[in-house]
Amino acid sequence: MPSDSIPLVRQIAQGDRDWVAETLVLEWTSTSVARLGELVEAAGLPGYLATLGGRRVGLVLVDVKDRAYEVVAIGTTEPRRGIGRALMGRCAAEARARGCRRVWLVTTNNNLAAIGFYQRLGMDLCALHRHAVHVSRKLKPTIPVRDATGVRIDHELEFELLLEA
Ligand SMILES: CC(C)(COP(=O)(O)OP(=O)(O)OC[C@H]1O[C@@H](n2cnc3c(N)ncnc32)[C@H](O)[C@@H]1OP(=O)(O)O)[C@@H](O)C(=O)NCCC(=O)NCCS
Repeated sequence: MPSDSIPLVRQIAQGDRDWVAETLVLEWTSTSVARLGELVEAAGLPGYLATLGGRRVGLVLVDVKDRAYEVVAIGTTEPRRGIGRALMGRCAAEARARGCRRVWLVTTNNNLAAIGFYQRLGMDLCALHRHAVHVSRKLKPTIPVRDATGVRIDHELEFELLLEA
């Protein structure tokens, strides 16, 4: 019986793709991610899936270009149980193994959980793309103007983890 307290991480398999697409739609309204003036179709990207006690509880989807390892989407259905940390740990290990010089990602100004989480994992805020969400919203009109707490979603924050050569 798999443990219900320690998340297991494995590569996303073909049989997980429906769950990945459903999870993206639930969390981000569609399978595409808009950031930095570009719409990225995330459902087919490679990545990792986390399970707890045999159930799927988290995913991370990535894109690697020019020795830069982008975390395009990360999420868990059971926050604060170490699932995000386990997924990001696997990404950092893969990025190192592939000779990448940085792991990077973009989040938005309202996402305080993500901002805390990335910094706790040692990532650094490396760019503030002021009002970039206005452009992203043109590409993906389902991005709400305000989040569930009423905070305006306006800016994109870029975080990075630099890897040693
Ligand atoms: C952001 C997210 C992926 C974090 O995953 P998680 O599994 O809850 O994070 P973990 O339990 O692995 O936490 C790792 C560390 O991050 C910190 N952290 C996690 N959530 C946090 C929060 N809400 N506020 C501040 N710090 C937080 C914890 O302090 C933890 O450190 P610890 O191990 O010393 O306690 C998760 O909250 C999530 O899925 N959010 C919704 C989707 C989302 O916004 N994704 C990011 C889009 S850019």
